Amino acid sequence: VLGKGGVGKSTIAAALLLSLQRAGARVLGIELDAPGGLSRTLGVELPEANVAVRSASGVHLAWFDGALALAEYLSRKVRLGRLATPIFQHPLYEAFVHAAPGVKELMAIGKVRDELLLQKRWDAVVVDAGASGHALEYLRMPAVAAAAFHRGRVHREAKQVHASLSDANITAIHVVTTAEEMPVLEAVESVQRIRSELQLPLGHVILNRCLELPPDDIQATIQSLARLAPDAPMLFSARRALGWIEIQERYAADLERDVGVKPLRMPQLIADELTLLDLETLAPGFTGSARGIS
Ligand SMILES: Nc1ncnc2c1ncn2[C@@H]1O[C@H](COP(=O)(O)OP(=O)(O)OP(=O)(O)O)[C@@H](O)[C@H]1O
Ligand SMILES: [Mg+2]
Repeated sequence: VLGKGGVGKSTIAAALLLSLQRAGARVLGIELDAPGGLSRTLGVELPEANVAVRSASGVHLAWFDGALALAEYLSRKVRLGRLATPIFQHPLYEAFVHAAPGVKELMAIGKVRDELLLQKRWDAVVVDAGASGHALEYLRMPAVAAAAFHRGRVHREAKQVHASLSDANITAIHVVTTAEEMPVLEAVESVQRIRSELQLPLGHVILNRCLELPPDDIQATIQSLARLAPDAPMLFSARRALGWIEIQERYAADLERDVGVKPLRMPQLIADELTLLDLETLAPGFTGSARGIS
């Protein structure tokens, strides 16, 4: 799940997790880099990287750290014995993982794949991949690494991860936006990059925080009210609400035209802080299939 800052990625990821769980799947929600919005939304503390914690709602959550994932991978693949701990605690190791471009991203996304396909503990994992640009870097890395190393272990592993990411039976990349200018522009750009540059399977394009559309005869109703009580405060509120909806529908139409698919609408909920109950009202927006795809 990716999109511009603040559009509701973590909220949508949480709703998707709850909907999959309700359909009977064993699910894991994953945050990349650090614990953040997803665990906050579901009320879970994640003190340690790479460790799944169960939330009150029953879904498990974890955050994945690329440096740790590389250590874990190396321990599994290379027999380092007693040397392992001093190596992974050495400042040079940390420096390498953080300086080498894409290593952290490659390892974290590789771990997401391993968690789903090798662990057999989960039927589905939902990744709150964060802001579009950074999220697309994660998704791009396996193909980049597979091309950069012509053969050998890195090539093989990166190719496998890329194959899983490219497989529409396994992966769906959901792009979230709100009906506003900048988020829509960013969503359209992401969708184009996912399709043409990355060639990865697009899931839903999600239009979050949608105001409910008025009944068809709203204009006639407003006109009647205007004749009866031209100064009624309700009249002012109704016209203002319609104005907002008109703007929303203009951006929704731009989005649909530019991505060429019908966005999945999620309603604007009225609450200072969303509760689990609120999230559950968003959840039916997805279907119950393993990937949350209709
Ligand atoms: N459909 C909705 N109705 C009402 N409030 C919502 C809805 N979706 C998200 N919000 C609220 O909007 C705020 C931002 O949502 P969220 O944290 O999910 O966005 P984000 O895209 O993950 O943000 P960030 O880029 O900071 O990670 C939160 O306060 C959340 O409760
Ligand atoms: Mg977030």
